[in-house]
Amino acid sequence: MVSISVSLLGALFALVSAQQGRLYSSSFAIPGNASYDYVVVGGGTAGLAIAARLAETASVAVIEAGGLYEIENGNQSVVPYYALTMGVLSTSTSYARQPLVDWDLISEPLKGAGNKRIHYARGKTLGGSSAINTMGYHRGTVGTHQRWADLVGDDSYKWENVLPYFKKSTTFTPPNLAKRFPANATVLYDPTAFDNSLHGPVQISYGNWIDVTTTWLAVAMESIGLPLFPKGFSSGTLSGWGSWVTDEIKPEDATRSSSEASYLRQAIADPNSKITVYTHTQASKIHFDSGKNANGVLVNTAGFEYTILATEEVILSAGVFHSPQLLMLSGIGPRATLESFNIPVLSDLTGVGQNLWDQIFFDVLSGVNLPAFIPNPAAEAVALGQYLQDQEGPYSSAGGFIAFEKIPKSLRKNFTQRTKDMLSTLPDDWPEIEYIVLAFPGANSTIGAISATIEAPFSRGTVTISSSSIKDPPIIDMNWLSDPADGELLVAAFKRCREGWNSPAIQQIRVGPEIAPGLAVQTDGEILAWIRLNLGIQWHASSSCKMGKKGDRMAVVDSKARVFGVNGLRVVDNSAIPISIPGHPSGTVYMFAEKIADDVKNRR
Ligand SMILES: Cc1cc2nc3c(=O)[nH]c(=O)nc-3n(C[C@H](O)[C@H](O)[C@H](O)COP(=O)(O)OP(=O)(O)OC[C@H]3O[C@@H](n4cnc5c(N)ncnc54)[C@H](O)[C@@H]3O)c2cc1C
Ligand SMILES: *[C@@H]1O[C@H](CO)[C@@H](O)[C@H](O)[C@H]1NC(C)=O
Ligand SMILES: *[C@@H]1O[C@H](CO)[C@@H](O)[C@H](O)[C@H]1NC(C)=O
Ligand SMILES: *[C@@H]1O[C@H](CO)[C@@H](O)[C@H](O)[C@H]1NC(C)=O
Ligand SMILES: *[C@@H]1O[C@H](CO)[C@@H](O)[C@H](O)[C@H]1NC(C)=O
Ligand SMILES: *[C@@H]1O[C@H](CO)[C@@H](O)[C@H](O)[C@H]1NC(C)=O
Repeated sequence: MVSISVSLLGALFALVSAQQGRLYSSSFAIPGNASYDYVVVGGGTAGLAIAARLAETASVAVIEAGGLYEIENGNQSVVPYYALTMGVLSTSTSYARQPLVDWDLISEPLKGAGNKRIHYARGKTLGGSSAINTMGYHRGTVGTHQRWADLVGDDSYKWENVLPYFKKSTTFTPPNLAKRFPANATVLYDPTAFDNSLHGPVQISYGNWIDVTTTWLAVAMESIGLPLFPKGFSSGTLSGWGSWVTDEIKPEDATRSSSEASYLRQAIADPNSKITVYTHTQASKIHFDSGKNANGVLVNTAGFEYTILATEEVILSAGVFHSPQLLMLSGIGPRATLESFNIPVLSDLTGVGQNLWDQIFFDVLSGVNLPAFIPNPAAEAVALGQYLQDQEGPYSSAGGFIAFEKIPKSLRKNFTQRTKDMLSTLPDDWPEIEYIVLAFPGANSTIGAISATIEAPFSRGTVTISSSSIKDPPIIDMNWLSDPADGELLVAAFKRCREGWNSPAIQQIRVGPEIAPGLAVQTDGEILAWIRLNLGIQWHASSSCKMGKKGDRMAVVDSKARVFGVNGLRVVDNSAIPISIPGHPSGTVYMFAEKIADDVKNRR
């Protein structure tokens, strides 16, 4: 049997012959003091995108704590289906660890959610979280981008001004209808949302398989008022509509198109690129000269400590939990925190590690009388053949149908005036809830899930440090449900999930009573109590080093992502984006990296 690892290594090493003048391995550094124009800390989603662009015209070092996931984590981060089953996705603190691709971060006890601690998955590998995420791709809305522009006082964040960067980061392949059967999961899309002439590195396409139950759950969502949007979810509209999701999947071989598989490999294959990657290398501190100019990074490879100098700028792309940690360790953050660990204060910025947004979710489960893909030996053999030979079947796919809306009027009646007032501050096209439907094999039948994720959370968490050493992980307090508005919204969303399950359109596929939470849960109080104990995550945490106007006490970076109070340092990742853009953030993170890469290049 052809093994995926053979074809993968083949793909990696084929680059050696595809390019002239440089070996693939020549792009990886040998640990030791060195100097570059730019140093990018974190080879994740944003980090590899901005590093690859800067390396078109300048020398760039990427400092990444992890390695190559294709080699160090088998096929787990390569095959789309495993994006739904990896052990690392569990929030339980006793999850099945995958130490070579995940940071093993554990939260503080969640007061609003039964006082439990959770494991919060974060990629620790080239590709970062784009190497372990669920690969769903879409964009924010016209109104949310207007809000971003207003908050930071910079019209370049308006929808029409960021659209070129969304396009520059992606290449779109329409659905393969022959492989994607069944035809009742028809995709509607707007090809003008993309521009393939730009050869954007991240491959956007569709899974070549649709789970039958999800086709029915999509009908259920349509019947409660969420029809398919004719243009799909990359054209600036989300609220009030459903869509079959676009995925970051490379269609030729149906593999994950992470920032490593896209931006990094493209850069390495380009003989003119001046990119150098330091793997298994952790940055412990950013260095500054006496004029507060960032001029290098102290790093560590397997216990060997050395310095990578930056003659132009340092770009921090370590992600929502580690970027604030590194700023604080380097003397940038709330004065009291820094002084309590004897860290000299370079820039007293209250907002570092504050303003942490998170989109929390739950699902309502019921049995259905339709088959699910069960990876038992017989089914797996068939599925492997489909996948490896024809790039189709369950292994080629990681998701299905999603929908967004503001809670309808009928379910807003019980909202307190405070909640109504807060929700009314959001743009008209900012959805409050996202629904995701899927199915999985259960003990007695297939189990269908209609989940609700809060897209307008008002609770804010924090990230801080417990010592002056990088060896101690950041302290993460998600602070879920600390704002009562979130609970009210989730209770209303719960009722919508039940409306979906109770819609006449799908009664012929339902079997048995509701599995979770079950019909004993009825009153608003019972619903909220159940939700508190059964919350999950979409891993969309953001905004812990938020962008803002000069004078905004919580702002950490300006609209060009430059850190206030020092020179030559930017934060470019999902921590700097000032609001949690509704839905799945990776598309926005790539856009942002492309946009700041242009700003940096224009400065030179
Ligand atoms: C399980 C999961 C599912 C998700 N599903 C989706 C989805 O379907 N669609 C979607 O759009 N989004 C999804 N997301 C969210 C999305 O992937 C993230 O928001 C996004 O990838 C974050 O990008 P980033 O650049 O901010 O950080 P990351 O991609 O996490 O990159 C940070 C990088 O910095 C490195 N690093 C950190 N500290 C150091 C240090 N001190 N020294 C050196 N390197 C360091 C890390 O190893 C990592 O490579 C999901 C996330 C997860 C975890
Ligand atoms: C992934 O690798 C495992 C071995 O680690 C193998 O059993 C499995 O068939 C592979 N999956 C696919 C889809 O190739
Ligand atoms: C590396 O650089 C550091 C700081 O600039 C210096 O102290 C150290 O001696 C250098 N190491 C070597 C091997 O040159
Ligand atoms: C969609 O088509 C498949 C294949 O014919 C079928 O099994 C499934 O029931 C259909 N779904 C709906 C909602 O009609
Ligand atoms: C409002 O609250 C009452 C009392 O808890 C409850 O009976 C009713 O169903 C709620 N209405 C809505 C629309 O949620
Ligand atoms: C499956 O059926 C058994 C026996 O009827 C029952 O005890 C169990 O709770 C059921 N499991 C689910 C998930 O419905």
